Amino acid sequence: MPDPTTNPGANPTANAVVNPATGRAPLLSVEGLRTEFPTRAGVFKAVNGVSFIIDRGETLGIVGESGSGKSVSALSLVRLVAPPGRVVGGRVMFEGQDLLAASDKELRRVRGGRIGFVFQDPMTSLNPLMTVGDQLEETLRLHLGLKGAAARGRAVELLKHVEIPAAESRVRAYPYEFSGGMCQRVMIAIAIACNPALLVADEPTTALDVTIQGQILALIKDLQRELSMALLLITHDLGVIAHMTQRTAVMYAGRIVETGPTSALLGRSLHAYTRSLMLCRPTASDTTSRLLTIPGQPPNLAQELHGCPFAPRCPMAEAACTERDPELLELAASHTSACIVAQRDGLSAVVDRLPAGGGSLAGSAR
Ligand SMILES: Nc1ncnc2c1ncn2[C@@H]1O[C@H](COP(=O)(O)OP(=O)(O)OP(=O)(O)O)[C@@H](O)[C@H]1O
Ligand SMILES: [Mg+2]
Repeated sequence: MPDPTTNPGANPTANAVVNPATGRAPLLSVEGLRTEFPTRAGVFKAVNGVSFIIDRGETLGIVGESGSGKSVSALSLVRLVAPPGRVVGGRVMFEGQDLLAASDKELRRVRGGRIGFVFQDPMTSLNPLMTVGDQLEETLRLHLGLKGAAARGRAVELLKHVEIPAAESRVRAYPYEFSGGMCQRVMIAIAIACNPALLVADEPTTALDVTIQGQILALIKDLQRELSMALLLITHDLGVIAHMTQRTAVMYAGRIVETGPTSALLGRSLHAYTRSLMLCRPTASDTTSRLLTIPGQPPNLAQELHGCPFAPRCPMAEAACTERDPELLELAASHTSACIVAQRDGLSAVVDRLPAGGGSLAGSAR
């Protein structure tokens, strides 16, 4: 494969990915994405062959434990991984453009322009030394060439759009004058300032109080509908996934181990890892708010792995699971799994072996 970083002239339509469900090119297609960090202990494969698509207006959730590679995957899409981290393979096609082959200038236009980003901690994402209005206006100037009164007017409009009260005066306030939830609303205003086709929201509510979390998610959902944006929503919370997404990809150890329509993926998991995540959720009657975790540790991604990376922790593991690398195969309609036991024993292999428990996850995303 040609080095994507030195091949900016590549024909963007060559070998275009087509979504078999629609017969059209998706908004975003990611194929075989690989991102590594050189460390003293070896090359750490944080993202190891990740592939997914997102159609226009669609919501895809990415869920997985801490360290599974969710954030690094999102950052890799637009080459935002900080050195010495490096995207070493794969292809990212967005609106017909190969982002891994794009020039830095082209990528700057895409970041914050056609793709908006919202991160976990709004306090550290905003510049404490600039008013929120100035930060919004900077985005508007960079991407849309808006200046002066036009930029200020649009900044106020955007603050109103994210339901910040008294937007006309708050536009002159500094981030420290806002609560965490209000700061996240400002971040969302910046992310949607240029009408992006895709919003990437990485744990957008994790740093916020529980009551505020629901409001921010509702805002994101409303804006997505109004602006016809696609949404890539990253979270470790299956409740958020159930509430917000139509499709979900489950990440473990830098790989996607299951993808499917969210209701099917939660209702009839085809991978023991997904099922284990579900079984670790506290029940509604559990008021201790204890954090349950899957027993065992994820593998060391700086070492060569053989077989299924979840096998050492998997209650269903068999000898075969450590002997060969599982592929992600479609086992039901648009529902893929990299569990070789499910691939052999069929659709109820996982749910039958790992009986229900945990909190209710009735999906409500439309
Ligand atoms: N700069 C870095 N140098 C070395 N390793 C890194 C670096 N950044 C991330 N990693 C490693 O890559 C792996 C994936 O990290 P990532 O941030 O994508 O996880 P995540 O799934 O987003 O987790 P979380 O739910 O905690 O946000 C982690 O094990 C992390 O330690
Ligand atoms: Mg993360």
